[in-house]
Parts: sequence; structure tokens; C-alpha cells
Amino acid sequence: MSPNKTNKSANAQWGGRFTGGPAEVMEQINTSIGFDRRLFAQDIAGSRAHADMLVAQGILSTEDGKAINDGLDTISREIEDEKFPFSQALEDIHMNIEARLRDLIGEPAGRLHTARSRNDQVATDFRLWVRDATDGLEEQLQALQAALIAGAETHAALIMPGFTHLQTAQPVTFGHHLLAYVEMFGRDRGRFADCRRRLNESPLGAGALAGTSFPIDRKQTATALGFDRPMANSLDAVADRDFALEFLSAAAITMTHISRLAEEIVIWCSDGFGFVRLSDAYTTGSSMMPQKRNPDAAELSRAKAGRVFGDLMTLLTVMKGLPLTYSKDMQEDKEPVFDAADSLGLALAAMAGMVGDFEPMPDAMRAAAIKGYPTATDLADWLVSVAGMPFREAHHVTGEIVKAAEARGVLLDQFPIADMQAIDGRITEDVLSVLSIDAALARRTSEGGTAPDNVRAAVAAARKRFLET
Ligand code: ARG
Repeated sequence: MSPNKTNKSANAQWGGRFTGGPAEVMEQINTSIGFDRRLFAQDIAGSRAHADMLVAQGILSTEDGKAINDGLDTISREIEDEKFPFSQALEDIHMNIEARLRDLIGEPAGRLHTARSRNDQVATDFRLWVRDATDGLEEQLQALQAALIAGAETHAALIMPGFTHLQTAQPVTFGHHLLAYVEMFGRDRGRFADCRRRLNESPLGAGALAGTSFPIDRKQTATALGFDRPMANSLDAVADRDFALEFLSAAAITMTHISRLAEEIVIWCSDGFGFVRLSDAYTTGSSMMPQKRNPDAAELSRAKAGRVFGDLMTLLTVMKGLPLTYSKDMQEDKEPVFDAADSLGLALAAMAGMVGDFEPMPDAMRAAAIKGYPTATDLADWLVSVAGMPFREAHHVTGEIVKAAEARGVLLDQFPIADMQAIDGRITEDVLSVLSIDAALARRTSEGGTAPDNVRAAVAAARKRFLET
């Protein structure tokens, strides 16, 4: 490359003021067609709405409007069939389409840009794209919830250890654990829905920044494009990228949830745990170690969180301190958003696949659940509610019993009652009814708790809340 070489001819779209062409490096740094071609459908939809409005307002003739719409049809087909002659010299998707329209229909193509700037055009296209992406991701989130809810129903009573600090804490059910993720992904859906609600206003008609002297009808274009209303301030309309930031924030938070589930799958599949088994569909082998089954899909889903956080930081940093209104910096808004949408879409599909695929191993889960005295809290609770001790004292007595049981290498429900009574005389045989993990589980009936009957009811409620909407 010789970066300082200069192209001979000036840009056809604004060449009037220019005598020479751009340096090669100018073209390279300036071009966005390599990525913003993904906006083609939105760009064409925006142009149609704009042309129709210009016709309705008497700014454009009916014939020109028709020629423009027909030309845009052809362009749409050409792009879909991968026959469109994209040109880097034409910078971006907007000018590529307009130049092609001129090739196809001649002079009327030049009238399409009446009362419009690329500044309101790109803001419109990008909002439409983010809106579509939001809808697609929302659907994928719902599909993941559906897979989790189905798993929760099947495994409503399957005992596993619940952890704090990744130390066995209290027994829970696998179904209850899966439903925790249903809640997280439900909040993520809410964040995307919020983002969509706020982004759904139309920048089109703001012009370059100040509006236009043509008698345009912004309500008409807004309605045609499915927006709720035109944006109120023309400067804000071309300068705002909050919608992209909100989208990236929602994506980043969703990725934290995905990464936690992915991490748990990695842990559950590990030899030390062996809680679940993934099928061949979601594992890979090792080129050297024939025995290996690696949970790569989970690991990559976990790692993609890093990319998406980076995407959010990228755009926050691009937007920070930009003076109103449009600056070319804002062309850098698209790649992080595309990358985040792609990464999240892939991760959601992989997670839904794995959740539908994994097979829990009940024996390993139960064996792990009974280790580590997970019913100690139940013993303490019994001392409070039956023996009438203050909780702090009960905590202390239970600690002593656990210490003694541990010294003997037995579980609490195997520890002789007489030895418990030697530690505290208020203990009776009745305590045995709460010391098994099954009893502990069945007793967790408080709202939101893990008792299998609760989990079954929670499955039904989750279906109503998340799948019937
Ligand atoms: N490709 C540009 C972008 O994505 C379109 C807007 C260009 N506007 C301008 N005033 N140069 O931001």
C-alpha cells in the first residue's frame, strides 16, 4: 500500500466543491461499506418511506416516486442475490444504493435525497436495525427460557447441592436452580423491551441537523417505518446513539448471565463434579487425549461475554465528549453493535441447545448434596422452633454437633441421638425428622423456596409469565 497516493477523481456525490480525489488512506479510513452493508434492508425501507412522503407532500412527482420505488426493488434483489456491485469508493451503504439507483433509473435518483441528509438517514437505518436485532434476541431469550422451564419441570424434585462460595450449603433441586436462570433471562428480556420502547422514535426528517425548509411530514415517515412518533429535537435526532448504548448494556448484562450458566455447565461436566453429561453435539474431543470430552460451546459462550463488554466500552468511549451533533466518530457505532448482536445470538443458541441436551446424573448430585452437613441449618432451625432456643445459641449448639459428627466421619442423620443429647439435653428423637436432605428439601416451602411442590408451581407460573406473552 502507498497510503499517500491520491485517487484521481473527486467523489461523484459531492464532487462539485472538490477538484481532486481522496488519498488512498483517506478512502480506507473513511469507508464503512465493509460492515454497514448490513443496513441495506433498513436503508431501502427508509428511502421508500421518504420517497412516498415526498410524493404525498407534492415535493416529488408521482412518476419519480414510482421510478425510485421500482429501482429500490431491483437493488434489494441484487443485494439479496449477492449481485450488487458494492464500491469502497462510495463509502457507505447509503451512497452505494443511491449511486446504483442513478445507474438504474437516471435523474430521478438524484431527487430522493431532497430534504434528507445521511445524518438522519443513518440514524434511522441504525435504529431500525437495532429494533430488529432486539426483537430477534428477545425471541431467542424466550426460547432459552422455554428450554430451562422444560428442564425444571422434568427435574423439579432432583436433589443437588446448593452452593455458597462454591461450598455445599443446603440441598436444592436442579429444577429450582434452572428456574433461577429463567428469572435472570426474564429481566434481560425486560431490558431489551425497555430499550426498544425508547428507541422507537423516528429521526428521519431532522436533515443534517436543523430540520429542512421543505414541507415534509415526519409523522407519515415515522408511521410508515413503525416508529411511535418523530423525535422531538432535530439536533438530538442526529446526535443520539443512546439506543445503541442501551442495546449494548442489555447485551452485556445478558452475557453475564450466560457466562454464569456456561461456567456452571463447565463445572458440572468436570470430573470432580460429574453432575451433568453433555452429548457429542455440544462437546469436542482432544487431538492428543482420546478420553476427552470438552465443553467448548459452554466455554466459548462464557468467553464471548468479554467481547460484548468490550463492545459496550468501545461505544461508550466513542460517544463520550462528542460535541453536538453528528461527528464521523459515530460511524464507529456499528461494528460493536453488530458484533454484540452476533455474539449474543450465537451464545443464546448454544445455551438453549446445551440446556435441551444435558443429562443430569442424580447419583453424583445426591452424593455431593449429602457431603458437607447441608442440613445443619435445619438442625439449628429445629432447636429454635421446637426446643425454643434463640437462633444464635442454636447456631452454636449445631456447630458443636457438626464438629463431633465430622470427627467421627458420619452424617448428621447417622449421628447417634444420645450423643446429640450429651451436647444439649433439650434435643429429642423428633429432631431426626429434619436431618435427612429429603426432609430438608421438602420443608423449604416458603415463597420462592426449593421444595419440589414449590418448584412445580413455579414452573407453571413461569410458563404463564414468560412463555404466554
Ligand atoms: N457512513 C456514515 C455513518 O455511518 C453515514 C453518515 C455520514 N454523514 C456525514 N455527515 N458524513 O455515520
